[in-house]
Amino acid sequence: MEFNRQNVEQALKEASESNPGPWTEHTRYVAKACRNIAARCDNISEEQAYLFGLLHDIGRYAGVTSEKHLLDGYRFCMERGWEKAAQICISHAFMIQDIGTSIGKFDVSNEEYLFMKEFVANAVYDDYDRLVQLCDSLALPTGFCLLEKRFVDVTIRYGVHPATIDRWKKILEIREGFEKRIGCSVYDLLPGVVENSFL
Ligand SMILES: [Fe+2]
Repeated sequence: MEFNRQNVEQALKEASESNPGPWTEHTRYVAKACRNIAARCDNISEEQAYLFGLLHDIGRYAGVTSEKHLLDGYRFCMERGWEKAAQICISHAFMIQDIGTSIGKFDVSNEEYLFMKEFVANAVYDDYDRLVQLCDSLALPTGFCLLEKRFVDVTIRYGVHPATIDRWKKILEIREGFEKRIGCSVYDLLPGVVENSFL
């Protein structure tokens, strides 16, 4: 299936009908953040970044699950031939390329766990993986927010894990990398971030 706006929007629409929840609004803000930051970077396509953002949590279509949503998203995209989007469905949760840094539950079979472990260790990340990792932390269902607000939101829901601080540090490092490229704060590119952060 062609990787374009129409097909991706349709996929997201069906997924949100299959498992309605705040994840779809979060997803839309992640995608917009990806697009706005990509627009200011050389060699990153705005449209591709937007579509990868829209698809990163598409595995939620299958219901309320934990790390299984990463694999469901991966399979969903692979079935359509969207290989890079499939990678991002897994990589967005692993800013550190080690399966042990996960904060979720592996509600998958042993075989599936081993597949994910190898996949995460061997994936070659590019700007799109890093952009979605960053933007996933810049968006609540209500809008854009301070990274640190999303960190606390996720930690309250998922609990504190041994890798929590290292994950935060990695995201802050990724932000710095993009800010060097765009020559401004990422927050300058996120309309309503102040209002929503202080909500
Ligand atoms: Fe997300």
